Amino acid sequence: MPIRQLPENLVNQIAAGEVVERPASVVKELVENALDAGASRITVELERGGSGLVRVRDDGLGIPQGELALSLARHATSKISSLEDLAAVGSLGFRGEALPSIASVSRFRLASATRGGQGAEVVVADGSLEGPRPVAHPSGTTVEARDLFYNVPARRKFLRADSTEYQHALRTLSRLAMSSYGTGFVLTHNRREVFSLPAAQARVEREERIARLVGADFVAHSAHVEHEGAGLRLWGWIGLPTYARTQADQQYLFVNGRMVRDRLLANAVRLGYRDVLYGGRQPAYVLYLELERSLVDVNAHPQKLELRFRDGRHVHDFVFRSVERALAATRPSSTARGSADATSLVGPAPGRSEKLDLGEPRLPATDWTDIARSVAREPPPAEAMPLGQAIAQLHGVYILAQTADGIVLVDMHAAHERVLYERLKSAVDSGTPGRQALLVPVVVEATEAEAAAVEQHAEELGAAGLVVDRIGPARLAVREVPAALAGADAAALLRDVLADLAEHASSHRIVERQNELLASLACRGAIRANRAMTLPEMNALLRDMERTERADQCNHGRPTWTRISLEELDRLFLRGR
Ligand SMILES: Nc1ncnc2c1ncn2[C@@H]1O[C@H](COP(=O)(O)OP(=O)(O)OP(=O)(O)O)[C@@H](O)[C@H]1O
Ligand SMILES: [Mg+2]
Repeated sequence: MPIRQLPENLVNQIAAGEVVERPASVVKELVENALDAGASRITVELERGGSGLVRVRDDGLGIPQGELALSLARHATSKISSLEDLAAVGSLGFRGEALPSIASVSRFRLASATRGGQGAEVVVADGSLEGPRPVAHPSGTTVEARDLFYNVPARRKFLRADSTEYQHALRTLSRLAMSSYGTGFVLTHNRREVFSLPAAQARVEREERIARLVGADFVAHSAHVEHEGAGLRLWGWIGLPTYARTQADQQYLFVNGRMVRDRLLANAVRLGYRDVLYGGRQPAYVLYLELERSLVDVNAHPQKLELRFRDGRHVHDFVFRSVERALAATRPSSTARGSADATSLVGPAPGRSEKLDLGEPRLPATDWTDIARSVAREPPPAEAMPLGQAIAQLHGVYILAQTADGIVLVDMHAAHERVLYERLKSAVDSGTPGRQALLVPVVVEATEAEAAAVEQHAEELGAAGLVVDRIGPARLAVREVPAALAGADAAALLRDVLADLAEHASSHRIVERQNELLASLACRGAIRANRAMTLPEMNALLRDMERTERADQCNHGRPTWTRISLEELDRLFLRGR
């Protein structure tokens, strides 16, 4: 076949292959256009899951009659005009591709009016454009795409059942609504209203929207995050570790108001949960990252779902630290909501032992009698004791305490385990990390790139207690390991570190491995079930919990305590009715 220029309609249909995957993509593109036009209210109407009809109406700026046809031309946009504009783009769209792509694979109608201007519409079907012709239209824009892929049978075959397409469209619109609180959203499916979300400014209003779109349960079991520094800002809601899920289905990330799926960010959040999450559980979160526009390239994916950060490592560390810090704040307090309500009572699997077994002799373990004595001498004021005064030990497993406004139950093993673990970690963190020289250095074969990376990060690794020398182009020797990891397999540890260096150019692995070891020491050291505790001992543990970061969960992410308020007790006994 000779080389020839393809007809425009075919070019658009090819472009649609990237941008328009299913009805949900049409929803995304049209709603983004409405948001870019400054709409305060957007209505989305779907029929047959969107395969029959997607209609999006907005009350935004509108398109002047003279530009209607141009808006359907390829690479025609009002949003950027130069490469500099692209580098700092603030609108959701900028490629000038969405409308022509959608129009080439559907029966398409676009009607619009600017404020005070005449309404007009254009219609596209079978590749030909009719109009513009005058039509009555309030200021704003309506775009209609019917019978998606009616003229591309190969694509039409890939559409799923209406109910499946509807779920995709709903999820897409939910994400868009979570990205733009200032705009009201209405969704109808087959002419029935699905939701109507008013604009939401105050935090409670935003939480109402999240409750509607993600679930009231998520909001009730989440902590609010707000952290700013070094040119970055992270805010939103993170699910408490006890609310973790088996699926990654409640993870929402937005960067500068754009919904994204980004591995780097998702990894950073996950790392923030590293020692409060049980096994393979998934955290839930709705998080917003804001940074200067020129520091992120949004032109990296046809649907703009992926990004490139100019300094990925900086962003990664910021997000990780912010999440970790917010979770660290989940210690018992009388005002905290969430993990510790009566409905989340989860029993641990208790071990058994009659004696307080504090494990390894070098553990900075609690001397209970000492602490008990000091606590007994000067009881702190009631308001400083969110976990209250111990009353009794129940079934050899739980501590019952009375607080100012109710009662508290504590799982003594889980709680003590967390207290010990945090104490071990801060001992390692604060002092120069103890290092242990290996009698015989462990030699590890690596690639040249890996060996070079180790050389480059030698200082960082040394600070964490790992001393590695490059003894050949592709050979490494481990000479010293962190004291806390003295018994661990040095070669395996180094291999994990190499893998991390390759992926993140920094290594959290040393810290993580160290923490794993500390966690098991803490578990062994923690007080066992069926060990009788005296009241002063119990109170000492309660006070320790109040001082300990992350004390709301044990190291496996199970709750350590729960509260029943007087109000709840009164309700239980029908008092005051
Ligand atoms: N709802 C709307 N209100 C006002 N103007 C609109 C609306 N939808 C589209 N437009 C105009 O039509 C132009 C083309 O829209 P289109 O979505 O094809 O491209 P874009 O948004 O500029 O870029 P992208 O392809 O990245 O979405 C826009 O630049 C905008 O000027
Ligand atoms: Mg657009």
